[in-house]
Amino acid sequence: MVIVYANGQWVNENDAVIPVDERGHQFGDGVYEVTRIYEGKPFMMREHVERLVKSAKEIRMDLGMTVEEVESLMMEAVERSGEKNCDVYIQITRGIAKRGHLFPKDVKPSITMTVRPMEVIAMEERLAGKTAIFHEDERWKNCYIKSLNLLPNILAKQVANDAGAYEAILIRDGYVTEGTSSNIFIVQNGELVTRPLSNYILAGITRMRVEQLAEQLNIPFVEREFTKEDVLEAEEVFMTSTTNEVLPLVEIDGTTIGSGVAGPVTERVAKQFLQTV
Ligand code: PDD
Repeated sequence: MVIVYANGQWVNENDAVIPVDERGHQFGDGVYEVTRIYEGKPFMMREHVERLVKSAKEIRMDLGMTVEEVESLMMEAVERSGEKNCDVYIQITRGIAKRGHLFPKDVKPSITMTVRPMEVIAMEERLAGKTAIFHEDERWKNCYIKSLNLLPNILAKQVANDAGAYEAILIRDGYVTEGTSSNIFIVQNGELVTRPLSNYILAGITRMRVEQLAEQLNIPFVEREFTKEDVLEAEEVFMTSTTNEVLPLVEIDGTTIGSGVAGPVTERVAKQFLQTV
């Protein structure tokens, strides 16, 4: 069942537990993570929580909890849910204080969390692939921070949806940065290519795992910047994220990629990924 946590209490999904003066609610002044549980076991939870701690530090917010404490809170939520395959959403904001732009003094961070069952995407459906469009990356310059401010991501994803596509691939200064909620990979001359980490993209945990898998599978892995044209001419394209795992993109801005279904490299990586979770 769905589990909801708000500042020390286990509550019902629709309970009013967030005061009007909560800074996440008013300013998006906080950070979050989405982690996944497979067959009751957390997947790379340590890496997610470490990224949460880093995001918090970058916005000068003290979580007031250790990595271990955050992990055990998340696992308690999972146990309470009774779900074996679920996602855990955790959001930590600067706290509750009368509205004002400056950091409030003497407030505790506000922590909320949900656990929801996840549906498994059948392999056949996954390998059929999804479509995408390109969209200008209109976000700020600190996209390595997993902040609550997702308005440009939401707007771009909606443009994609309105065009009948699943994801928007974001372009900054002529180069692909990432998706609205995913990292982007292309296969070019047999090499698996993704953009190097910088402040312009989120250091995806799935991206990290795919890099490890490429090594295991002897697929050459390269980090370099690439353009829209590189994407359209690529042998294969896929996106990665906690919720979508490894998902092929087979048509972008109306152009068919490769053979129009998942290519061999994507298929190997996707299958290996699902095996290791
Ligand atoms: N999104 N880039 C962005 C902008 C993201 O929001 C995400 C994840 C990723 C992939 O990161 P990871 O592999 O660690 O999930 C890349 C989460 C799932 C979300 O917002 O729902």
